[in-house]
Amino acid sequence: MDIEAKLKELKEKSATLFENAIDPKQVEEARLYFLGKKGEFAKIMEELRAASPEEKKLLGKSINEVKEHIEEKFRSTRERVNKKINELRLAREKIDISLPAKKIELGHMHPCTKIYLELENIFTKLGYEVVEGPEIEYDEYNFEKLNIEEGHPARDEQDTFYINNKILLRTQTSPVQARVMEEGRLPICMISPGKVYRSDSVDATHSPTFNQIEGLVVDKNITFADLKGTLTLFAKELFGPEIKTRFRPHHFPFTEPSAEMDVSCFKCGGKGCSFCKGEGWIEILGCGIVNPRVFDLCGIDKNIYSGFAFGIGMERIALLKYEIDDMRLLYENDIRFLKQF
Ligand code: DAH
Repeated sequence: MDIEAKLKELKEKSATLFENAIDPKQVEEARLYFLGKKGEFAKIMEELRAASPEEKKLLGKSINEVKEHIEEKFRSTRERVNKKINELRLAREKIDISLPAKKIELGHMHPCTKIYLELENIFTKLGYEVVEGPEIEYDEYNFEKLNIEEGHPARDEQDTFYINNKILLRTQTSPVQARVMEEGRLPICMISPGKVYRSDSVDATHSPTFNQIEGLVVDKNITFADLKGTLTLFAKELFGPEIKTRFRPHHFPFTEPSAEMDVSCFKCGGKGCSFCKGEGWIEILGCGIVNPRVFDLCGIDKNIYSGFAFGIGMERIALLKYEIDDMRLLYENDIRFLKQF
């Protein structure tokens, strides 16, 4: 066979084979066809063995030239095909940054939190300090030190979840009063917000978990006038300057005298309407003058100091202020409901 003719043919063939290759498999097949162990150049080398030394010299040069040409074709084709594949992959994986992003649903402040922040703001402006106490509490603080000894009927009203004989989930924020008084840093002017627990069944006005704010002021010469003045100011800040307050005698073991504070109905202005059930007044909180027995139990000298305390149900205020008629709505976490406040 004429090697020169064969080389010419291979050169031409390589042009079409490599130029038509569009994937790595075809490129590799073309390489093997020309340059593989059993490829066309291997065959030519086989034939070359029969040639004379002079012919070998001449042909060897031509063979090398064509081989190098084809090797170069192979390398450039491989580069072209890989580049194309990369481009296609990049096009496929392209992220469309112009697509609108998924919306993040924003929550909404809970009406109870809003009420709390309002109350906190009113009292801190008056110089009250915010103190927190434990939700898992000793019987001693929740009851004993507040003058509610074992067997006291007030314990039945506030039946709760006992962890053992001595430890329970607090039924009120009042134990924080005892904790702060025991620390002995006087005078005291504090509020204490937080969750409380009672084994009540759920209905429109009850929940086994709810929130209270406790208030306590202890100093020399504190009187019922201070209590009335402070809580009336508070009611006007919360419900408006036209609001009136009244104090009805009540009983709490840790205050003496004790009272419940009503505000004049902010819907009818006190004339009586369906909102206040014809009363003209709405009950807001419990309060009183700190019982001297509590001072004894908490290590404060009752001959020098006096004080007043109050307890506010946060949910109750939220229900009233936002005119919500069922407490259960507050705990459902339905954003459509929460967004209204
Ligand atoms: N702890 C009372 C309750 O849970 C509320 C209360 C009433 C707190 C009168 C007080 C107070 O500090 O003086 O019903």
